[in-house]
Amino acid sequence: MAIRGQLLTMAIGFAFTAAFLRSAVCFNPPPQHDALDVLPPTNYLGSISPQQVHISLVGKDKMRIMWITQHASPATVEYDTSAGTYGYSATGSTYSYEYLMYKSGEIHDVVIGPLEPNTVYYYRCGSNSSREFSFKTPPVQLPITFAVAGDLGQTRWTKSTLQHISRSGYDVMLLPGDLSYADFNQPLWDSFGRLVEPLSSQRPWMVTQGNHEIEKIPVIHAHPFTSYNARWHMPFEESGSNYNLYYSFEVAGVHVIMLGSYTSFEAGSDQYKWLEADLAKVSRERTPWLLVLVHAPWYNSNTAHQGDYEGEGMRKAMEKLLFDARVDIVFAGHVHAYERFTRIYEGQANACGPVHITIGDGGNREGLCRRYLDPQPQISVFREASFGRGQFQVVNATHALWSWHRNDDDETVRADMVWLSSLASDPACNRM
Ligand SMILES: [Fe+2]
Repeated sequence: MAIRGQLLTMAIGFAFTAAFLRSAVCFNPPPQHDALDVLPPTNYLGSISPQQVHISLVGKDKMRIMWITQHASPATVEYDTSAGTYGYSATGSTYSYEYLMYKSGEIHDVVIGPLEPNTVYYYRCGSNSSREFSFKTPPVQLPITFAVAGDLGQTRWTKSTLQHISRSGYDVMLLPGDLSYADFNQPLWDSFGRLVEPLSSQRPWMVTQGNHEIEKIPVIHAHPFTSYNARWHMPFEESGSNYNLYYSFEVAGVHVIMLGSYTSFEAGSDQYKWLEADLAKVSRERTPWLLVLVHAPWYNSNTAHQGDYEGEGMRKAMEKLLFDARVDIVFAGHVHAYERFTRIYEGQANACGPVHITIGDGGNREGLCRRYLDPQPQISVFREASFGRGQFQVVNATHALWSWHRNDDDETVRADMVWLSSLASDPACNRM
């Protein structure tokens, strides 16, 4: 029965995925010798053994721990600063969801803290001693290093991206949407959780949603983002948002805003009003750097996703808010390639506008988007269709180093890099 149900789910999902892919100009299957290598769901390690562990920042000194067990288990995290000793504990909640014939495992959600900054904590989930995990909290002051990669999926390319990120010495991961590419086939959310766990259990992963997270099927499953919202609870409540699809957080002198490309963003929408209110709360003395992440890029010289409403419509609705607030960088995904623009406002180079960066080259099964508009627009500084990941090293209140690294290169190679000055430190732009 379970197998029949899974086959039915896959068949329905495949039909919708096929329809979806037909409209996705980015689809570019790899050659035969580079066959896709999606990890199959593996057996559970044990019915109450924690798996798919990932952590995310909550407020200024707390961490959310999420994990899944096959059967009921306490939603308790025990932790301390020495391995094997658990002097502190916290209890949270457990829930599950159903999607067609699929029923998720027990999804546990626990917030722990207060925690010391820049400190390694050891923890175990559900009082289960079979697995001990550890994470490092980010620093409370600059410098801080972010890893940035979107459109991850679960292929050999993804694995390569994760290996590079793992060795990069980052503090916080920023993911601008499109995580598992489960595309209705729910067990692939589980295999994605297992694939990223070695990283996501050790450093906070802060994500926003992409189109592959929607998973809405008219009539059959009309509610969007069921799996994403259940599995990747981000700290939206703490930033005054009423929806997991957009939120903000602050860490070590950086204010990060995660926007939702696939929920209403027009003037007057809840997201628009929340963004206005959140920007009004930003203090450039407390957080001299201001970053925004979206999924669909607002600027893009790849032929893929040209003029999509989620990108262009959102730009028209929200660009002035970001420009007036002197946002430093807008990161996007969606286009499976890398592109860095100069500082822009309303399509023109503008020294007080944000730098726009597309970093949707994490390595999913759809392959790379290789075709670009010709000639290259003057506002596009660097563009290349290779798998890779970005690194944003904020050195101090005024200077930061952005670099892009191809997976095919040696780790020390920076295929693209630029030193950026914060707009808050530029007297010509600073009017906060
Ligand atoms: Fe996408």
